[in-house]
Amino acid sequence: MKQYIIKGGTRLSGEVEIGGAKNAALPIITAAIMTDETVLLNNIPDVNDVNVLLDAIASIGARVQRVDRHTVRISGKSINSSKVEYEYMRKIRASYYLLGALLGKVKKAEVPLPGGCNIGSRPIDLHLKGFNALGIDTEIKGGDVIGDARALEGGRVYFDTVSVGATINVMMTAALTDGVSVLENVAKEPHVVDVANFLNSMGAKIRGAGTDNIRITGVKRLHGCEYSVIPDQIEAGTYMFAAAATKGDITVTNVITKHLEATISKLVDIGCSVDVFDDSVRVYVKEGKELTSTHVKTLPYPGFPTDMQPQIGCVLAVCKGVSQIKESVFENRFKYLDELKRMGATVSVEGQVATIEGVEKLSPATINAHDLRAGAALCCIAIGTSGYTIVEDIEYIKRGYERFDEKLRGLGAIIKEVDSERDIQKFKLRNA
Ligand code: EPZ
Repeated sequence: MKQYIIKGGTRLSGEVEIGGAKNAALPIITAAIMTDETVLLNNIPDVNDVNVLLDAIASIGARVQRVDRHTVRISGKSINSSKVEYEYMRKIRASYYLLGALLGKVKKAEVPLPGGCNIGSRPIDLHLKGFNALGIDTEIKGGDVIGDARALEGGRVYFDTVSVGATINVMMTAALTDGVSVLENVAKEPHVVDVANFLNSMGAKIRGAGTDNIRITGVKRLHGCEYSVIPDQIEAGTYMFAAAATKGDITVTNVITKHLEATISKLVDIGCSVDVFDDSVRVYVKEGKELTSTHVKTLPYPGFPTDMQPQIGCVLAVCKGVSQIKESVFENRFKYLDELKRMGATVSVEGQVATIEGVEKLSPATINAHDLRAGAALCCIAIGTSGYTIVEDIEYIKRGYERFDEKLRGLGAIIKEVDSERDIQKFKLRNA
């Protein structure tokens, strides 16, 4: 099993270029099959989830041509099946976007029901509620969601819970649904807006993305286009918190600073210095500055992102004072705190609230990455912790972070991917 070994006690510094947003690229790749013409996508992150989804659309007949590691050409003209195999859903939940794309394009779909994951049960009832509002019959049979969109018509749906996935999935189908559809209480994440912009560049008529309500006037067909995916706000925030975790000085480049406002606000709250430029942000900790506690509640955008919760949680473990985190999006996103406790953190969890009392310093340990964000966050705090730390289950991290160890080494980290005790001993000898 592949692991990262880290020799901690390093102050990270330098520049890191941020890649395309995974959570925009996944639905955009899926929506690209909705036209029979060719779509050219730029700034696609080279991460495992994207590569699995490209395999999934190819498995139903889409033509996929990787121009280079960040550029892909897709055509949905040769789609010959509306049934998605379980192996793809098992690997990535975002395969459920194929429901929205296929129901819009071929008016039927058979997609495995996604399972839960380490951060929650992850139901898709709101996706189904949205599809039903468009006149689509949905049935759960043999572990699959079977959708029949022969009676497709514009409709209105209010999402009880703000859901990124449900908003995007139903928006895709509505783009090719006769009549006007109105989606209310929608997600406003940058990646929701990016998908709407992409669909509009294919000829869709979508208005209001980024606000509470989205209005879609259906069109008969979508045409090809060339599109560039937005930068990844979560990848950027992860490296910004790495500056705090190691009391370093990191500039993230190729970002949209507006998407980072909640992250910047919390970094300033705990005592970091932040300089914001046109398309880059510098985060640093002044010499002798002690980082201090804060309270944070995760919320849908523009609130503090749940995908940044482990990153701030790991840093608060070494911030002076008592901090509280309220996780209001997912029901089980504190598992990483058990790993942090193994490094000497003082934390307790009551329901959706974690209380973290900052300690002077953590100690190295062998720890587990329970999900990609927790894995990345634990690596960053390990880099700021003197001694050798081993992080296991790093496949999670590779799902959403391109060249993670390489980018960290570029900032001065002493980190290596290993998969044997021998490799570990060699690393320790080389970095004694
Ligand atoms: C997306 O997941 C992201 N994944 C997640 O990022 C992110 O944490 C999440 O949005 C919230 O921002 C992708 O974009 C691929 P939701 P999604 O539907 O769409 C409940 C990462 O690290 N809900 O907004 O599945 C749900 O249980 C991943 O990149 C329902 O109850 O999240 C949760 O409590 C982790 N019924 C809340 O809504 C539904 O039908 C928000 O979930 C759908 C969701």
